[in-house]
Amino acid sequence: MEEHKGKMRAVECTGYGPPEVLRLAEVDIPIPGENEIRIAVRASAVTASDIFIRSSDLPLMYKIPMRLLIGITKPRKSILGLVFAGLVESAGSKITRFKPGDRVYGMTGFRFGAYAQYMCLKETDSKAGCVSILPDEISFEEATAAAYGGSLALQYMDKGGIEQNRHILVYGASGTSGTFAVQYGKYLGAHVTGVCSTGNLEFVRSLGADAVIDYTVRDHIEPGIEFDFILDSVGKMKKSKLKESCRKNLKKSGTYVSIDDGDLILSSSRLDQISGLVVDGSIKPVVEKAFPLEQIVQAHRYVAKGHKRGGVAIVIGSA
Ligand SMILES: NC(=O)c1ccc[n+]([C@@H]2O[C@H](COP(=O)([O-])OP(=O)(O)OC[C@H]3O[C@@H](n4cnc5c(N)ncnc54)[C@H](OP(=O)(O)O)[C@@H]3O)[C@@H](O)[C@H]2O)c1
Repeated sequence: MEEHKGKMRAVECTGYGPPEVLRLAEVDIPIPGENEIRIAVRASAVTASDIFIRSSDLPLMYKIPMRLLIGITKPRKSILGLVFAGLVESAGSKITRFKPGDRVYGMTGFRFGAYAQYMCLKETDSKAGCVSILPDEISFEEATAAAYGGSLALQYMDKGGIEQNRHILVYGASGTSGTFAVQYGKYLGAHVTGVCSTGNLEFVRSLGADAVIDYTVRDHIEPGIEFDFILDSVGKMKKSKLKESCRKNLKKSGTYVSIDDGDLILSSSRLDQISGLVVDGSIKPVVEKAFPLEQIVQAHRYVAKGHKRGGVAIVIGSA
């Protein structure tokens, strides 16, 4: 295998805190092991998880276990970035699924590392990542929203056993996972209601939602509408009267799932399922904005406001 010595551009996290803890740096290009591929990263993203790790803005009872896991005063893996899309640049001798030149995408889990021109990854699924072939029809930027939003939405929606004409509610319908959840619900033949803020109502309708609820003006929904399935894709940290009211309107036989129930499963077969849905036109990944790697601080500031539409991509130029 060709060794690629030299330096690359990457973003290092110098401590937990505001976006300014992220710094552009020149670091060594990683060398893949025999069971790893090296990926020339073309796009990453600023996801809710990247914000969560970088800010470490959590109640003490969550902060301590998280920091024991990923680093006490700063992340042990200094290059953040959970999702990636790019090209296989070299493949170790034991690699069977990929070859140089393949378009790929996926997630890195707790090894992070996608805010860089190159990263190495095993081809087998684990908590340290999953990777799959990226079809030509999906752009690198779209792939980052598809990997994260698609994996979250499909994992949690599939807990609902959603069938034709069921009435489902997606709470947080305009975010990365919510935009996927609305479209996946329509693909499954459900009647979909989406909850979002005023500025996103028309956008959520344009994704196919049959009804929309503005959480900035409503704090309850009328009894009578009964849901078979509710996906809380905002997460448990955001509580509200409206959310509670929606929950009261769940049918006795219905299912309520929070996107924070359990861990996101990193699965390459899930990525393949998502690719299929995008390629056949059933789901369109939404990328609201793309920032170059050099503007990572601005990108984190933007996402930290909490109201992006779909995903925000980070575009990474070649070496
Ligand atoms: N289980 C796991 O392992 C795991 C892994 C990763 C992430 N997650 C969870 O997934 C969540 C969602 O991720 P994402 O990428 O889809 O997030 P996102 O893109 O940031 O979307 C956030 C959504 O929340 C809405 N929102 C913001 N403030 C709100 C409020 N006060 N009330 C109601 N809705 C509000 C936004 O709508 P507007 O813009 O219209 O306000 C938007 O639709 C994360 O926050 C995290 O909790 C779980």
